[in-house]
Amino acid sequence: MLEYDYLVVGSGLFGSVFAHEVNKNGKKVIVIEKRDHIGGNVYTEEISKINVHKYGAHIFHTDNKDIWDYIQKFAELNRYTNSPVALFKGELYNLPFNMNTFYQMWGVKTPVEAKKIIESQKKEANIKDPKNLEEQAISLVGKDIYEKLVKGYTEKQWGKKCSELPSFIIKRLPVRFTFDNNYFNDKYQGIPIGGYTKIVEKLLDGIEVKLSTDFFKDKEKWEKIADKIIFTGMIDQYFDYCFGELEYRSLKFEHKIHDIPNYQGNAVLNYTDKDVPYTRTIEHKHFEGIKYEKTVVTTEYPMPWKKGKEAYYPVNDEKNMEILRKYEELAENKENVIFGGRLGRYKYYDMWETIEESLKLVEKELNNKK
Ligand code: FDA
Repeated sequence: MLEYDYLVVGSGLFGSVFAHEVNKNGKKVIVIEKRDHIGGNVYTEEISKINVHKYGAHIFHTDNKDIWDYIQKFAELNRYTNSPVALFKGELYNLPFNMNTFYQMWGVKTPVEAKKIIESQKKEANIKDPKNLEEQAISLVGKDIYEKLVKGYTEKQWGKKCSELPSFIIKRLPVRFTFDNNYFNDKYQGIPIGGYTKIVEKLLDGIEVKLSTDFFKDKEKWEKIADKIIFTGMIDQYFDYCFGELEYRSLKFEHKIHDIPNYQGNAVLNYTDKDVPYTRTIEHKHFEGIKYEKTVVTTEYPMPWKKGKEAYYPVNDEKNMEILRKYEELAENKENVIFGGRLGRYKYYDMWETIEESLKLVEKELNNKK
């Protein structure tokens, strides 16, 4: 028996939910976090009376009633509906692709007219077996939507040409033949009133947390402190990159305060033109409907990733998945270390999935011990 039952590495949603639940069940747990704040990428910070999503816009959405009920134990969520707008060479379009978009693009007013154009463009492209993302997208939505709303954004996001990206990245592109700008199809969505950091504060209330503490700076010490480690950092780093580095896309965020009450009239504005170096501007006050004379806008630039930079999106192509499988094999043989969360599993998880995965692990752990 070591000093703690669990060492949780990382105070993001995965680690914090896990720590909260096992602590509630009488386990002794300590959380270490390399950043100087808790919350991982859902961290929000109040700037000019506005909760700023410091690591990119986070909109909670799920179809899972249990997870929706779970998150509400820690925060009240408002009824925010995500309705992004896309800007392409001076033209504004509603997203996701719906009757408003088709009216803006072609002037069509009925679903029959819109379907006719999309079908004729798909037919004209005559792509039977899409070999890359470009062909896949054109075969799903036709040339106009692809060129104005998909191509530039996707190429900036991944740093590669759509013709060089694998087709499996987009299995489908949602097309809606109603005048409905709600981005998500999920039953439940909202933004926690007061920001996400408050949720994580509540999760970690009463739990020992050490900030600015990198597991790798004192690995030997941390490996001897608890019976089990829940590791939510990078799986390849844990194994000292012995099979090579897993690839990520990174992001750069520029936060700016503007002395006007309303900058862009919407929380999320996407820039789908490849010549604009950023992909999104986020005006945070619209998430919570905050009335104030100033506003904060974040510009999001996609960046290549290299060691030492923040890793945001895993590049789950075949080359990286092959490397991941080797790390997973090593992980399976480490009895006292469990890898979880988006970096530990090298997987893009939405917040509800992160919580669900963490709760599944809690159940497994608590039942194992009985
Ligand atoms: P997360 O990365 O949050 O936490 C891991 C923590 O471990 C970090 O705090 C890190 O500092 C720490 N750590 C790593 N290595 C360490 C070490 N060696 N020692 C100590 N600490 C270490 N989801 C959604 O549902 N709706 C949305 O709108 C969005 N939007 C969105 C935008 C962007 C830009 C991204 C990148 C992601 C989203 N998401 C999202 C996904 C969401 O961010 C995700 O589900 C959770 O943050 C994952 O939580 P984790 O705890 O797994 O990782």
